[in-house]
Amino acid sequence: MLNKFKSLLTSLLSKSTMFLTISELAHQHNNIIKIRNYTKAKIHVNNYFCFDKVENFQFGKNVFFGPYNVIYATKQNSNEPDSKIYIGDYSSVGEQNNLRTGGGNIYIGNNCLISQQVSIIASNHGVDKNEIIKTQKWIARDVIIGNDVWIGCGVQILPGVKIGNGVVIAAGSVVTKDISDYCIVGGVPAKVIKYRV
Ligand SMILES: CC(C)(COP(=O)(O)OP(=O)(O)OC[C@H]1O[C@@H](n2cnc3c(N)ncnc32)[C@H](O)[C@@H]1OP(=O)(O)O)[C@@H](O)C(=O)NCCC(=O)NCCS
Repeated sequence: MLNKFKSLLTSLLSKSTMFLTISELAHQHNNIIKIRNYTKAKIHVNNYFCFDKVENFQFGKNVFFGPYNVIYATKQNSNEPDSKIYIGDYSSVGEQNNLRTGGGNIYIGNNCLISQQVSIIASNHGVDKNEIIKTQKWIARDVIIGNDVWIGCGVQILPGVKIGNGVVIAAGSVVTKDISDYCIVGGVPAKVIKYRV
């Protein structure tokens, strides 16, 4: 009996340091519609993925997720178009990040680095005065991020923003407008502080 308990405990403990495919993760969270091993992304076991369809995650080669990310690819109503998250080859999502489509789409290019505590949000709540915000329809606005983009810790990327290739976003910035290729931006709201040379 004790040995059985020990081996169960050992297997549970070893699982906590494992990396899983998104299908395995989805299965574990018991919110999967269809299990399909279509991605070879390396995903730390301590992540939370929420989605309408697992296919709404489209990940390229060697995509990496560290622990404690919360990733939502969901829409408000079933009659709306799918809400997707695309992540390109060799891109990496560090720890404690928050990616949330809310009816829009998030496109992240190849070789991107998303560090820690970054939020990328692809919709707003409606804010008309004559209705409480909670019941208003979400307004989807896609976020598009190019290749080779480094997003520093604590950055917030707001709905509808397009970020060019090679951009660096300094820690703590709030990105409210589009950013051109190879700019280094910082601050609230984020402005160009220098260029990659
Ligand atoms: C963007 C970054 C790489 C720039 O570093 P750098 O080239 O050494 O730049 P400097 O420190 O010379 O700063 C250049 C200017 O930008 C400003 N700046 C730098 N970081 C800033 C930030 N996070 N927010 C606002 N302004 C910033 C500086 O104050 C400086 O302004 P000044 O010219 O008026 O004095 C760095 O500031 C940064 O944010 N790194 C992210 C670190 C991180 O999040 N790591 C996570 C682990 S992957």
